[in-house]
Amino acid sequence: MNVLTTKGDVLQFRSKLKENKADLGLVPTMGALHEGHLELVRRACAENEVVMVSVFVNPTQFNNPDDLENYPGSLDEDLEKLKTLSCDIHVFAPDVSEMYGSDISARHYDFKGMDTVMEGAFRPGHFDGVGTIVESLLGLIRPQRAYFGEKDYQQLQIIRQLTHQQKIPVEIIPCPIIREPDGLAMSSRNRLLPKRLRKEAGFIFQTLQKGKTLFGTKSASSVTDFIRGAFEDHPYFKLEYIEIADSETLQPVSRKRNNKKYRAFIAAYLGEVRLIDNIALN
Ligand code: PAF
Repeated sequence: MNVLTTKGDVLQFRSKLKENKADLGLVPTMGALHEGHLELVRRACAENEVVMVSVFVNPTQFNNPDDLENYPGSLDEDLEKLKTLSCDIHVFAPDVSEMYGSDISARHYDFKGMDTVMEGAFRPGHFDGVGTIVESLLGLIRPQRAYFGEKDYQQLQIIRQLTHQQKIPVEIIPCPIIREPDGLAMSSRNRLLPKRLRKEAGFIFQTLQKGKTLFGTKSASSVTDFIRGAFEDHPYFKLEYIEIADSETLQPVSRKRNNKKYRAFIAAYLGEVRLIDNIALN
């Protein structure tokens, strides 16, 4: 597999592609690839002649140094997984100094309030870090399409906003959440769960599904009260937030409107591991 590590490598690779007029799809990742990532890559392969997977643990999007320190991953394992897919995949795996030079800091963006709620409220600066690296990757790699999972739905909406604001010519392709058989949304962090806690993790999606059923007849606040109560009664989870928000603007809903789409968003700790998930409600 072709593994590029410098921006110069990417520029060379990119100019060759331009000569061949091949469409390029980008799947940005932080490594520790799982089936959810592989689905993004498969989709990118189906829609583009050439695919680039970036593997870069971006320090500026971690507001907690322990979280960065413990972030799982091994490039060799990731490459093995990518090799099982039969399409023209190239990997960009730079180190931190290649992407940031000596100034490891994030740009500041105005994401119109989308970045101050939910993940943004509990992880200050997180979306400035995401915006900084995604803008750099898109500017360097210049894909026709870039693929993002709906598990990080808030991130997906913010990246759409970023490409709109910065006029970056790329199509952002949202891809559905891939779940384990018990409903747990696939995530690199799942591998940090000890076995005894992993057994409990399906509770998040099961509770969101019950909330979705209630949303048909009840107010948003009774749905969030129900979910909050269920987590309070659970012996292993510590709920961080449950929010029902407009799927477009991500602003919390107070009164449901017929012409709007809503999602429930959740973050909870299971032991030391922070998990997030979301579900479309209508
Ligand atoms: O979703 C992720 O893995 C990361 O936030 C991303 C988009 C690769 C940016 O570092």
